[in-house]
Amino acid sequence: MNDTFLRACRGEKTAYTPIWIMRQAGRYLPEYQRVRGGVSFLELCKRPDLCVEVTLQPVDLFGMDAAILFSDILILMEAMGAPLDFHEGRGPVFAETVRNQAGLDRLRVPDAEAETPFVMETIRLLRRELQVPLIGFAGAPFTCATYLIEGGSSKVFWETKKMMYTAPELFHALMAKITAATIGYLQAQARAGAQALQLFDSWAGILAPVDFVEFALPYVQEILAALRQFNLPLIYFANNGATLLELSATSGADVIGLDWRVNIGEAIRRVGERAVQGNLDPFALLLPRDQLRARIGRILADAREARGHVFNLGHGVHQFTPPEQVRIAVDAVHELSQRS
Ligand code: CP3
Repeated sequence: MNDTFLRACRGEKTAYTPIWIMRQAGRYLPEYQRVRGGVSFLELCKRPDLCVEVTLQPVDLFGMDAAILFSDILILMEAMGAPLDFHEGRGPVFAETVRNQAGLDRLRVPDAEAETPFVMETIRLLRRELQVPLIGFAGAPFTCATYLIEGGSSKVFWETKKMMYTAPELFHALMAKITAATIGYLQAQARAGAQALQLFDSWAGILAPVDFVEFALPYVQEILAALRQFNLPLIYFANNGATLLELSATSGADVIGLDWRVNIGEAIRRVGERAVQGNLDPFALLLPRDQLRARIGRILADAREARGHVFNLGHGVHQFTPPEQVRIAVDAVHELSQRS
């Protein structure tokens, strides 16, 4: 078992810097497209045999140091009672938005084993196959709330901010419900065999720091505190979060995920005694080989003083990325970080 990733998360010495990449299983891989050709995205998420297959693809192809469960953050919202669909080219769509008390009352806190059994089954099956650690995940409550309130992806988040500023009690009640559901969901993932857990806060970066403190961070803290008993590395990734780093460091996470908009050395000084994960610009994978390797070398050098460093992209790999470039990046991280 290659435990380099877990050791780096815990701030222990490693022979080299481990790497996995966000969205490592997905559309940039022809192997994924082949599986996805036969089923819709939601069907895929509910078929443990296929989830296992696509989870393993990038690990086997490139030698990633960790696997991430193939699923989606919105699967839990569907289990809470929000009807979900994925439209080709438009992303996720919730037919019923949550914008008032009646909408909130329609949501339930599900029993994760009973209502998302395919997720737990995928984890159990993967643990039999994998030679690297398995990361489980969920969306952070703020990010999940934006999808429920907006009814899908958004650029301006008008409805979300309208609820925060004009109906804060309703907003907090929604956050509390998502938080309760997420705790049950991630605890079930830990019991099924997940070896690390990541909270994705893709939209936290749209918040002013005061609003992050009032509306988002306390719920992340509550979730991470409820997972502490499992003694697994906990990762918190707030995309566009460079202005929130000191606050994110109080989330209770062992590892702070970094997007590419901040220098990793500066970020390490700001998060203190925490390991970090990141932070190559996903589009830097388009660089010619030598420049890509040099860019990776810079990040590794700037991260020398980290308590622990898990190499990753600063956000998910883009769907048009040539897979060969991912191979170059993984090999470069492994080679350039060798410690004797
Ligand atoms: O490999 C992995 O990282 C595991 C799988 C994974 C997916 N989504 C698969 C997926 C993970 C960890 C996620 C998380 C996720 N999902 C986030 C947080 C991370 C981030 O990117 O900010 C968010 C915001 C979502 C919601 C979501 N899912 C959107 C907005 C979309 C549509 C946009 C897009 O990129 O297509 C999805 C679809 C989705 N989730 C795909 C995959 C592989 C593409 C689906 C397809 O095959 O058509």
